[in-house]
Amino acid sequence: MNGMGKSYIYIVECADGTWYTGWTTDPARRVRTHNSGKGAKYTRSRLPVKLIYTEAYATPAQAQRREYEIKQLTRRQKEVLVNTEQFFEQVLSVRLTEDRQALDIIDQTLLPGTIRRIRLTTKEEIWEAIKKLRVRGAPAIGVSAAYGMAVLSAKLEADSFGAFYSQFKELKDYLASSRPTAVNLFWALDRMDACARCAGEAGVSLDEVRARLYAEADAIREEDVQISRNIGEIGFGLLKNLKKDGKPVGILTHCNAGTLATAKYGTATAPMYIALEHGWSGSDMHVYCDETRPLLQGARLTSFELSSAGITTTLQCDNMSSLLMKSGKIDIIFVGCDRVAANGDAANKIGTSALAILAKHYGIPFYVCAPSSTIDLRTPHGGEIPIEMRDPDEVTKMWYREPMAPEGVDVFNPAFDVTDHDLITGMITEKGLCTDPYSDAFARAGIV
Ligand code: MRU
Repeated sequence: MNGMGKSYIYIVECADGTWYTGWTTDPARRVRTHNSGKGAKYTRSRLPVKLIYTEAYATPAQAQRREYEIKQLTRRQKEVLVNTEQFFEQVLSVRLTEDRQALDIIDQTLLPGTIRRIRLTTKEEIWEAIKKLRVRGAPAIGVSAAYGMAVLSAKLEADSFGAFYSQFKELKDYLASSRPTAVNLFWALDRMDACARCAGEAGVSLDEVRARLYAEADAIREEDVQISRNIGEIGFGLLKNLKKDGKPVGILTHCNAGTLATAKYGTATAPMYIALEHGWSGSDMHVYCDETRPLLQGARLTSFELSSAGITTTLQCDNMSSLLMKSGKIDIIFVGCDRVAANGDAANKIGTSALAILAKHYGIPFYVCAPSSTIDLRTPHGGEIPIEMRDPDEVTKMWYREPMAPEGVDVFNPAFDVTDHDLITGMITEKGLCTDPYSDAFARAGIV
């Protein structure tokens, strides 16, 4: 559950099965209120209650507004909220183990058939998990790198900050070599680096440096939850405008920019999850997921996530989206991104730029959901974004019983492409919706 902010809304389940919604500034009161004070009158039992849902807000006013909204929902709508929350917990992409000595990730290469969590303790294991896409998606890679640096730094032996920091830098460079395109990896590593240097300059003990690194990694994870939520609220505003009586909003997405790729709501999926939070049913939307060759993130991950959340979901091969758009089934497209250049050119999973070109042809709005950590103002345009090239076997062998191409044939396997900024209707950042000219829009939004 979301741990950011100072005011909490909550739903508790009472011993007699009734649900009570409230808000508080004291997280401990979420389970106490109900047995005493104002909340008690809503329950027929004074037995312990179980916290089944909570959200955190920066201010009491926001929490109160949200409490009011939730109180308007039917029991069925609240059940959707609670079930989705449980699903988020189940597929949480990255966390620390309880003893905070290791990363605990869901191995995304095994999904959807097997939900297995694995422990990563060494730098080689963390590097391999990122490289092999056991953990993937730009924000989740950033969170993994941050927690990786915290866990690995806790084990560094040094008798001075200088000795500690030179090993820290080696670890940082090593993790940075795992994947080249998603800028969140470098952004998170730089944040951890700045945190270490700042602690070093303050002359605190090495134990305190290590504690601050853990706190910084926690902050990166928690901020990501809030960032996705803000992106979701803005995207939901767009969905509301498209809703016509009795007809689901048709949404197309590519790859997986979902909960598995982030700390909670996803980016491209956040508008859909936020729609559920606002009382939409899963059939108010119809999400078409591109399969996403060659690693099938759309089939294995996005269609798994969205159908598990009860959202009407259809899977199609990548080369079928043109027909879908032409047939009028798609009202809007949301995709994620791995790196956005200063002029708004956006790198995302291979195949994204083809979708944008088609969308322009068919007059369908095409939105890139971009946390500001993905916006790299040091890269002036998309031509300078490094594109990861991957193993040919992913194309020729990976999903087949026997190779599906002649032995030794030349294979082109870039993991990402760049969508030109003039094909993008808008870029949804947590700080607001940005439109072309993007460099001005980013500055206005305070993205520096
Ligand atoms: O190669 P992957 O699976 O890491 O690629 C992921 C994507 O392209 C996502 O769309 C992007 O990272 C955004 S995730 C919120």
